[in-house]
Amino acid sequence: MEEFPKSDYREYPKTLPRDDIWGQVRRTINGRRISEAEVRVIVESVKAGLGLEGDDVLLDLACGNGALTERLFGSCGGVIGVDLSEYLIEIAKERFERPPAYVFLHDDVVRYVTAAEPGRITKVLCYAGIQYLSPDDVRKMLRVLGVRFTRVKGVMLGNVPDKDRADRFFADPARRDAEVADPTAQIGVWYSQSEIAVLAADCGWAAAFTRLPEHVFNARYRYDAILTR
Ligand SMILES: C[S@@+](CC[C@H](N)C(=O)[O-])C[C@H]1O[C@@H](n2cnc3c(N)ncnc32)[C@H](O)[C@@H]1O
Repeated sequence: MEEFPKSDYREYPKTLPRDDIWGQVRRTINGRRISEAEVRVIVESVKAGLGLEGDDVLLDLACGNGALTERLFGSCGGVIGVDLSEYLIEIAKERFERPPAYVFLHDDVVRYVTAAEPGRITKVLCYAGIQYLSPDDVRKMLRVLGVRFTRVKGVMLGNVPDKDRADRFFADPARRDAEVADPTAQIGVWYSQSEIAVLAADCGWAAAFTRLPEHVFNARYRYDAILTR
């Protein structure tokens, strides 16, 4: 069978059953799909991290197939999900879209935030997303969000691979050093919390950090960053 790089969300998801929604966004460890209980912990952490309220309109950047996005529909008044994978957006539209309030669009996140009408968006989520962008694109995305999306009160960068804990994932230091800064590698780009704090501050955001309990899925070497103005 053809090998796809772990960062491939264009062709790889097409090799899985259409209803393998967690496999398609690689929420798997050694082939095990994330459990429903773990999904619930993640969903609650996003709601709490963003302080989602009924009148919020959420922009979900790099939303994948919308499986996580859909769990947030009941906690806000509207959602726009954006992803670069045409196939995953096709699945999101087919399974989860409920226009006009809950919609999914095929686009690059930087292109989207630069060109789109900010409208009524009040919160932004990018879950397991920034690691697949170049650091330059992360910077552009955060800058443009700060300047153009004036109603946005908070941004959550979720499930960020923690550079200070990379040894918990990489058994081989040479492989670690070769991969931690590569958006096309296994896990994408790893960031320490202090790097995210500096990057966020450069773009006009103050960062705070939270972690899920260590037993939850891949939380041992990940954290969430909550950015506020
Ligand atoms: C691990 S998946 C996360 C999906 C979803 N946020 C979730 O947590 O279930 C990473 C997603 O990032 C998307 N992605 C990578 N680069 C992107 C870009 N430049 N613009 C938009 N989406 C991008 C991929 O297509 C993929 O769907």
